[in-house]
Amino acid sequence: MTKFKTRIHQSSKDSRIILANDYDIGNEKLVSQTIKNIKTLHNYLCGIKLNFHLLLPLGKNDIIKITKTAHKYGLQTIADIKLNDIGNTNLITTKTLWDFGFDAVIVNPIMGLSNLKKIITSAHRCNKGVITLCHMSAPEAKMSYDMNVRLSNNSKTISLHQLFLKWAITSKADGIIVGATFPKIIRECKKITGKKLDIYSPGIGTQGGDANQATRNGSDFLIVGRTILNSKNPIDTAKQILLADI
Ligand code: XMP
Repeated sequence: MTKFKTRIHQSSKDSRIILANDYDIGNEKLVSQTIKNIKTLHNYLCGIKLNFHLLLPLGKNDIIKITKTAHKYGLQTIADIKLNDIGNTNLITTKTLWDFGFDAVIVNPIMGLSNLKKIITSAHRCNKGVITLCHMSAPEAKMSYDMNVRLSNNSKTISLHQLFLKWAITSKADGIIVGATFPKIIRECKKITGKKLDIYSPGIGTQGGDANQATRNGSDFLIVGRTILNSKNPIDTAKQILLADI
């Protein structure tokens, strides 16, 4: 089996869009709508992302049904749970996600570098991926991710997102999340990471981020939810984002 990082690059039929499949509907509808989305949109996507609020009401069988369908249509599956706990519970959580068929997980590096390394080493052993938060997309994120931090009295003061970027590189994460709403930070991160890790950018459209601007500044993948899901014509909207993503 190839590595997650290779799979997500190969799975895309020239698409760099990951669908954020965010709904607030009952279980049965959620499964059928998700499967419908995969079937109708797969040609314009490279992956699908399921958040905590979707995983909680779904059971193991429903989740497996979704991840299997996504794989059948060539899509990678990402669990967006922003995982952030101690080493052993993190490992139990990711093992369950892998059993459910997920290819990658989004984690919060605030758990600390050694916990991050543990989770990534263990994921890579099973060819699974780990994407770490670097700078979130919401405007409120500025307050925390731009905060100045210093690891010791002798070390230089840097911003929290710079520290998270450093940790992502050191721990060999597969990718980082930087909101499309912060294109300058995307550029700053890309300058340092080059091809070492991929930049995943949520916040396109509804949150005000621009696909073309994010891509020009270095985003490798665009995470898009409401702009596609609420569109009268989701296929056309996905196509338009792809046209902008050059
Ligand atoms: P919309 O509807 O705004 O949805 O296109 C965006 C999706 O992305 C998630 N999101 C984030 N996930 N770090 C993440 O890991 C972020 O900074 C971030 N910002 C948005 C959000 O939960 C939704 O699924």
